[in-house]
Amino acid sequence: MTYQAREIPDNFVAKWQETTNVMADIFEVPAGLIMRVLPEQIEVLVSSHSAGNPYEASEKAKLNTGLYCETVMASRKLLQVPNALEDAHWKSNPDVALNMISYLGVPLLWPDNEVFGTICVLDSKTRKFQAKYVDLMWEIKKSIEADFKVIQQQERLVDSNTELRLAIESQRSDAMKLAQTNEELNAALATLKKMQGELLRSEKMAALGALVAGVSHELNTPIGNSLMAASTLQSHAAEFSADLLKGVTRGRMHEFVEAINQGAELLMRSLAHAAELVGSFKQVAVDQSSMKRRTFYLDTTIAEILIALGPSIRKSGLTVERNIPAGITMDSYPGALGQVLSNLIDNALVHAYAGRAQGRIIISAESDGDDQLRLSVRDEGVGISESNLSRVFDPFFTTRLGQGGSGLGLHIAYNLVHTALRGNIAVDSSPDHGACFTLTLPRVAPAGA
Ligand SMILES: Nc1ncnc2c1ncn2[C@@H]1O[C@H](COP(=O)(O)OP(=O)(O)OP(=O)(O)O)[C@@H](O)[C@H]1O
Ligand SMILES: [Mg+2]
Repeated sequence: MTYQAREIPDNFVAKWQETTNVMADIFEVPAGLIMRVLPEQIEVLVSSHSAGNPYEASEKAKLNTGLYCETVMASRKLLQVPNALEDAHWKSNPDVALNMISYLGVPLLWPDNEVFGTICVLDSKTRKFQAKYVDLMWEIKKSIEADFKVIQQQERLVDSNTELRLAIESQRSDAMKLAQTNEELNAALATLKKMQGELLRSEKMAALGALVAGVSHELNTPIGNSLMAASTLQSHAAEFSADLLKGVTRGRMHEFVEAINQGAELLMRSLAHAAELVGSFKQVAVDQSSMKRRTFYLDTTIAEILIALGPSIRKSGLTVERNIPAGITMDSYPGALGQVLSNLIDNALVHAYAGRAQGRIIISAESDGDDQLRLSVRDEGVGISESNLSRVFDPFFTTRLGQGGSGLGLHIAYNLVHTALRGNIAVDSSPDHGACFTLTLPRVAPAGA
C-alpha cells in the first residue's frame, strides 16, 4: 500500500489544533492526534496541547511497525483498544513504549476516497469509551473531511487561477508576436510599394518605347514620299540640263517649271505631314514622360494617342472606332490619359480578341454635365467571367501568367485614373459579351492632383 501525502494550509492546521485540544479535553486523555500519512511514514500533523502528551507535531514514525493508526488506515474502520497490555495482538505495539495503552481512532479520507490519515485519542490507562464518545469522534472526523473538500476546492481554484494567468501570459506573448508579424508585414508592404513604384516607372518606359516604334512607323510614309519627290525633282533637273546643251524652247521651259512646281508641292505636303506627325508625337512623348498638366482637346489627344498605337492595332487586324465629339476640352494630365487608354486598348488586343483576326474597339466620349465627362473603351470579345471581374484591377491579377502578362496594366490604369485624373474607372462585362471600361473624369482635374 502506498500513500500520497496531502498539503494542508496553515490556517486549517491551526483550526484543527483547537478541535484536537477540545477533543482531548472532552475525552479526558493526554493525547488527541490528527495523523497524516506520507508515502513511507506517518506524521503527527496536530497534537493536542494537553498535560502528559508524549507526542509532538511533525514527529514521524515508520510504517509497517504495528501502529494502531496503521490498522485504522488499512481497514478504514474505527479501532478501539481498551488496554493493549491485556491484548496479545497489541501489547508490543510501538505506542505502548510511550505508555499509551488505550486507543480510539477513525480513518480520515480525502474527497477522492484515498486515505489521508487518522484522528485518534490515546491514554495511559484502560479506557472503554461510551457510544456517545464514539459518535462524537465520527462527527469530528466528518467536520475535518468537510474541511478537506474546502482545501481541495481552494487548490483547484489556485490551479485554475494559474492556468488563467498562463493563458493571459500566452495571449500577451501572442499579441506581441502579432505585433511583430504586423511590423514585418508593414516592412514587406513598404518594399512592395517601392517595387510597384519602380514597376510603374518601367511601365512608363515601355509605353515610351512603344511610342518610339509608333513614331518611326508613321514617319515612314511621308518621308518615303518626300524621298520619291526629291529624286523625281533630281531627274527632272538632270533631263533639263541635258536639254539646255541642245537649246530649249519656251514650251520646254514651261514644262520644266511646271514639273518642278508639282514635285516641290508633293515634297512640301509630305514634309508638312512628317512635321505634323513629329509635332504630335512630341506632344504625346512629352505628356507621357513628364505627366504635365495642360489644357487640351479630348479628340485631338486621343487621335494622337491612337497614332502612337497604330502599328500594333494595324498588326492585329482590328478596327478602332471613335465617337468623340469635337470641342470637348480638358484641363488635366494627357500623359496619364494616354497611358490609361493604351492599357485598355492593349488589353482588348491581347485578351478580348486573342487569336481572332477581326473585331472592333469602340472609344466613345460624352459630356456628363458641365464638369464631367464619360469616356468608354468597349470591345466585343471574349468578356470577363464573374469571378474575375472583381479582381481585374488588383495588382498582379492576370489570366496570362507566364505568357507575357504581369497583371499590372489595369492596376496602373486604376491608380492613374484615381490619383492623377481624379476620376473613376469601372468595368462591365460578361463572358462572350465583350468588356466595357468606363472612365468618369472631371474636365478640370482638382488642384493638387
Ligand atoms: N478587354 C478585356 N477582355 C477580356 N479580359 C480582360 C480585358 N481586359 C482585362 N482583362 C482581364 O483582366 C486581367 C488583368 O488585366 P491587366 O491589364 O491588369 O493585366 P494583363 O493584361 O494580364 O497583364 P499586363 O497588362 O501587365 O501585361 C487580364 O489578365 C484579363 O484576364
Ligand atoms: Mg493588360
